[in-house]
Amino acid sequence: MASERTVAVVPAAGRGERMGGATNKAFLPLGDRPLLAHALGVLETCPLVDEIVVAVGEGEEDACRREVLEPFELRKVTGVIRGGASRQESVRLALRYVGTGAGLVVIHDGARPLLPHELLVRTIEAGRRSGAAVVGLPVKDTVKRVGADGHVAETLDRRRLWQIQTPQVFWRDLIQMAHARAAERGVIATDDAALVELLRHPVLVLEGLEENIKVTTPFDLLTARAILASREKARA
Ligand code: C5P
Repeated sequence: MASERTVAVVPAAGRGERMGGATNKAFLPLGDRPLLAHALGVLETCPLVDEIVVAVGEGEEDACRREVLEPFELRKVTGVIRGGASRQESVRLALRYVGTGAGLVVIHDGARPLLPHELLVRTIEAGRRSGAAVVGLPVKDTVKRVGADGHVAETLDRRRLWQIQTPQVFWRDLIQMAHARAAERGVIATDDAALVELLRHPVLVLEGLEENIKVTTPFDLLTARAILASREKARA
């Protein structure tokens, strides 16, 4: 039955400007495969995920199939779509592609290649129960709001601050409604949970893992390589 299905939506259409190059970072090599193949691989091997829809940049659809899906046998990917100008737009387009063909949606950044399997499972189970579950980490540094004049405007209470990652898991109808409402009202957010919060549905936060990094800068790529190397060493 369609409503029993769990579909993963993977936004991977960023331009990678903070990486300093012109190519989409999703195609950059990490170990023996492109970054995106790692992120999709975790979803592919998870028995709780039935299908995957990935959003890539305009004109990158064929390269995605040729360089990522075919060589690494990512057979659960049923849709490669063109993303939008923002992450939110890429997710909205992917959700439109999903239509009513799922009961649960797992949103996971294509730029997070090192998501541990057990964290994915834990988040899916929590999302299925509660309708909205995300992973995050308590912040380690002190966070201040800094004014346009370069001076501190406010020091925030660190004990209540978390950095939010993906995966983010939602009931399919809830997340589609949240994106539709945001589009109507012109609300822009940097994650999907923020749009669900606007509907006043509670969002459960699970403690994630530091290794689930988002690769944004060249430094992050170095970190990702080190994490991967230490995993391979542990396995040897
Ligand atoms: O830019 P940010 O770091 O928030 O990107 C998170 C994820 O969203 C990345 O996997 C990136 O490829 C994706 N993204 C997208 N469409 C955009 C911008 C970012 O799918 N227009």
